Amino acid sequence: MERTLAIIKPDAVQRQLVGVIISEIEMNQFAIRAIRTLRLTRDQAALFYQQHCEKPFYESLVGYISSGQLYALVLERESAVEEWRKLMGPTNPVKTGPLTLRRRFALDIQRNSVHGADTATTAEREIDFFFGEGV
Ligand code: CDP
Ligand code: MG
Repeated sequence: MERTLAIIKPDAVQRQLVGVIISEIEMNQFAIRAIRTLRLTRDQAALFYQQHCEKPFYESLVGYISSGQLYALVLERESAVEEWRKLMGPTNPVKTGPLTLRRRFALDIQRNSVHGADTATTAEREIDFFFGEGV
């Protein structure tokens, strides 16, 4: 069994998509081991997305992710990191291919409704950020 960190991002919370996204999580054999809702400060958001600090979209991303309530979840299943990323779909919500969560719900490449850790190591760091002493 593996764990990953998922976020239901502010654009999805604002549009009341939390329930449908959690349904998809449960229907895809993930166990929810922890869940909390919070709004990140700008500083916390900047820290969470630190790896992107050189990117042109960084400032705007930090503003967006701290713009409203989000849900952070610890998901567990076999190959959780890879399986959750598969269910989310690519960063940019594409119009073709499998009907992923981002394809269904994303507004654009930034407001793409869900987050998932990219590796098992990142997942543990992100879990610690939300459920350890981080925030
Ligand atoms: O979230 P994911 O791992 O798929 O993508 P990322 O490359 O790690 O980027 C993190 C987040 O930055 C994305 O989910 C988008 O919300 C945002 N982003 C953006 O605003 N503009 C881009 N050109 C790329 C990503
Ligand atoms: Mg990423």
